[in-house]
Amino acid sequence: MSTDRIDQPSGAPAFFTTPIYYVNDVPHVGHAYTTVAADVMARWRRLWGDDVLFLTGTDEHGLKIQRAAEAAGLTPLEHADRTSARFREAWTLLGISNDDFIRTTEPRHHAAVSHMLQTVYDNGHIELGTYEGLYCVGCEAYYTEDELNDGTCPIHGRPVERVTEENYFFKLSRFEQPLLDYYAAHPDAVVPETRRNEVLGFIKGGLQDFSVSRSSITWGIPLPWDPRHVTYVWFDALINYCTAAGYPSDRERFDRYWPSVVHFVGKDILRFHAVYWPAMLMAAGELPPSQVVAHGWLLAGGEKMSKSKANQIFPADLVAEFGVDGFRYHFMADQRFGPDGDLSYEGMIARYNADLANNFGNLANRVLTMAVNYLGGVVPERREDGLLREEAERVFALQGAAFARYDFASGLEAVWALIRATNAFIEDRAPWALNKAGDTAAVAGVLGDCLEALRIVALLASPVIPSACAELWRRLGLPGRPEDERLPAAAAWGGLPAGSILEKGAPLFPRIQ
Ligand code: MSP
Repeated sequence: MSTDRIDQPSGAPAFFTTPIYYVNDVPHVGHAYTTVAADVMARWRRLWGDDVLFLTGTDEHGLKIQRAAEAAGLTPLEHADRTSARFREAWTLLGISNDDFIRTTEPRHHAAVSHMLQTVYDNGHIELGTYEGLYCVGCEAYYTEDELNDGTCPIHGRPVERVTEENYFFKLSRFEQPLLDYYAAHPDAVVPETRRNEVLGFIKGGLQDFSVSRSSITWGIPLPWDPRHVTYVWFDALINYCTAAGYPSDRERFDRYWPSVVHFVGKDILRFHAVYWPAMLMAAGELPPSQVVAHGWLLAGGEKMSKSKANQIFPADLVAEFGVDGFRYHFMADQRFGPDGDLSYEGMIARYNADLANNFGNLANRVLTMAVNYLGGVVPERREDGLLREEAERVFALQGAAFARYDFASGLEAVWALIRATNAFIEDRAPWALNKAGDTAAVAGVLGDCLEALRIVALLASPVIPSACAELWRRLGLPGRPEDERLPAAAAWGGLPAGSILEKGAPLFPRIQ
């Protein structure tokens, strides 16, 4: 997505995806991080009138899942049913607005994988061969000796397994130059730039063919031309993005959302998305995804959160304390989308109290209370239309530019600048003194501006903290919800109708001690 789209409502197709999560693990806040970010983007682009398709789901085949099911005494599908449901629940809890939830065990996906594999095979890019390699079940990927740390997987720290198999190979090596050409022509196809450089370095280092089938396991999608083999889980999984867009049965729908797809991924799966995946698509005669956005890890005590390290934090634990909006806000404001970030409970509390309880919550409370007390709870005709109007316009442009580069933290800083400016404006104008002096017109002018600023804050912050913004919207006497609005028109100053009935209420974000 490019910044040239931030100025106008588009109606254009916009397809956002999260990785599909392995069902050997239950959802933890590391998974939630990617999902919330993608959700914010989906909500933001819907506000702009884009035709958004937002997809998440679960990755259910492969050795890792087969073993996890065995350990739990379940069939792989029973195990997948249970864990997949946990992911759905977690996303419902977090207010994730996905339009679809895909499971790789669904018939529609089976059909898409078979079709794409057969196409790549027919195009001559899959060949039979023998493979001997070092396999990490945790990653479901092969490593070379020099990629290991003392013989263990660089990501999971566990020993790899030596595996010999007769396999079908995808001729990735043929796609070195096409990939380099593609990335030269599409400088924004992988962001941020450090990740793009990593991808280019990897491609230039030489690409090895990789096996796309497994004959040693049964839990997977059989190869259409040789059902003794099942499809390699990554080849299977990546295709989910096409399945959900309608591939291959609904070509018209697929052509609408493809290739305008943006994949949100963690840095550990960048190579699959930015090297294997575009090559697979080229081999199938399809276009590469328009963008892959890679982020760092959420660390707990300096380490990546994972089941094997038993250092996971679960969304429900934090939601109980901070609420859904508090949870979402923290991840978007405090965990820069790009580098690794350590999760600090104290940091979360401090940020919640400062930004949500004090700035956002107090402002809403203060303005609505004064409007009820001084203006009879009705939005006045008058406004000053000065300083705050300028600030609102500045902030809107800044947020748009920041969100377009997935810099959610800066986008939120912009919105919070409007909150701070409004608080400062109140201090400066002292409406209580104006009220005491009986200057009703001046009070109306000041509060009229503040109420309008609140409306714009509720609108612009809604992709990140949807519940609080919907409640604020309601208290401002506005119909519907912020997400029913369309940008940029809705952000234009002066949208709060005079005569709307205001309501004060309980704190939107109660302070946490
Ligand atoms: N199933 C594959 C993805 C297939 S996509 C076609 C997979 N699943 S996963 O469940 O292991 O990880 C999914 C995503 O969660 C990855 O993007 C990974 O980076 C992210 N995270 C898992 N733990 C994480 C953190 N602690 N922090 C941030 N993200 C992390 O890989």
